[in-house]
Amino acid sequence: MSVTVRVPAKVNVQLAVGAARADGFHDLANVFLAVGLYDEVTVTPADELRVTCEGPGSDQVPLDRTNLAARAAELLAARYGIAPDVHIHIAKDIPVAGGMAGGSADGAGALVACDALWGTQASCGELLDICAELGSDVPFSLVGGAALGTGRGEKLEPLEVGGAFHWVFAVADGGLSTPAVYREFDRLTPVAPDPEASPALLDALRTGDVAGLAASMVNDLQPAALSLFPSLKDTLAAGTAAGALAALVSGSGPTTAFLARDADSAREVADALLASGTCRAARVADSPAQGAVLV
Ligand code: C5P
Repeated sequence: MSVTVRVPAKVNVQLAVGAARADGFHDLANVFLAVGLYDEVTVTPADELRVTCEGPGSDQVPLDRTNLAARAAELLAARYGIAPDVHIHIAKDIPVAGGMAGGSADGAGALVACDALWGTQASCGELLDICAELGSDVPFSLVGGAALGTGRGEKLEPLEVGGAFHWVFAVADGGLSTPAVYREFDRLTPVAPDPEASPALLDALRTGDVAGLAASMVNDLQPAALSLFPSLKDTLAAGTAAGALAALVSGSGPTTAFLARDADSAREVADALLASGTCRAARVADSPAQGAVLV
């Protein structure tokens, strides 16, 4: 018997970053939007815990106990006093190390899949607690849709979304380390104001106003990501020249996100980005998308 769970990628339409806290994390006002690019996590009983991965970039995915999917299985098993003996297989479609929460998605997916396989029937609150222990973005991967994340991003408040938004994601050649991007943010931002969600942006999401969303999107990590990965400026410029309404680095990058007027425009922007030679791949996806679901 095996269980498969599908989990979406995310884009941060607003990532407001405050000063570093005593624990090293940063307080955030993080407006998450789940987008329709998915990993699928399948768990099957096995003699011992092991992880395999297939799909684009899968050679860069760690298959040891540092993989968030493996840690999710271990944390759930420890809570219920059972052995985490499962084979976790990840079918990857979310760009790896790209700032789209692919690793977090696999953690949330493995958690839901193991819960179903083992019949542990953890409550939603317990699952969210384990997600928060796994990483700041993991609770959002579980719930999907749209949400405002505060604290280090793990405290979620669901947000209403009044329509579909059409995106293009340009996959960069190479990755960026999230801690390194935050360190660069600290270097570039000696005094960071308290992070606050933008009322205009929340309003645009609620009413499905694509122009309003384009005008209010902002990522405070973008200067740091561009400082460490300067060629991303060319990618952003290529997408804007092709008609994207807004262009920004996704999370800590190096994936870049482009908001398009409609589905046709998204395909045009994707074609132009590929032709520009400023990215390795361009993916079209819609939002919002559902969180982790059994398939
Ligand atoms: O929570 P997660 O493991 O995804 O965080 C990865 C790294 O990103 C942290 O070790 C920290 O360096 C940085 N981070 C941060 N503030 C946050 C979230 C992440 O500084 N709110």
